[in-house]
Amino acid sequence: MNDSGIPQDGHNKIPAGWMAFFAGMIIFVIWYIASYTPAISGWSFYQEYEQEMKAGLKTAASAPADPGKYIGKAEAVAEGKAEYESSCAACHMADASGGIGPNLKAELKYGSTPDKLLESISAGRPNGMPPFGQQLGKDKIAKLIAYIESLKK
Ligand code: HEC
Repeated sequence: MNDSGIPQDGHNKIPAGWMAFFAGMIIFVIWYIASYTPAISGWSFYQEYEQEMKAGLKTAASAPADPGKYIGKAEAVAEGKAEYESSCAACHMADASGGIGPNLKAELKYGSTPDKLLESISAGRPNGMPPFGQQLGKDKIAKLIAYIESLKK
């Protein structure tokens, strides 16, 4: 305390910067509550989620769409061969003549078009073919398809 008898009011002033910060916080909180309350601004987590999902689907759909695009391209075939040896040969044999999985050079029961091959490889097939879509992605699978095609000739 102060007992000098001299008025000390000046020493008790709240610093201007602190007041500005305090006022700023109040304004921020009002703005924040207003803009994230669905009943006030219309903002909705669900809407935001749906928009993000839609955007995600769009980019996924516009990614390399044609699973047959590498067929006949030597460089991609070579990359497909390397991937085949590490991911597929264990079951389909190194020359794709079949083992645990069927011969890939013969007529395939689920279809041999690039689209059907993409389906088989990416989603798997019920009698023991594992799905590779997550692990490899469409581009690598397109290269695998080019390699499988190259085996038939
Ligand atoms: C764990 C063993 C295994 C691995 C690894 C495996 N496959 Fe298979 N695959 C199978 C079996 C078993 C089937 C037969 C599934 C069926 O008949 O439903 C099959 C089926 C397929 C088919 C469809 C054949 C048809 O008759 O239509 C294709 C195409 C194929 N595999 C490609 C691949 C490719 C490419 C890879 C590597 C990315 C791979 N597989 C890895 C076991 C495997």
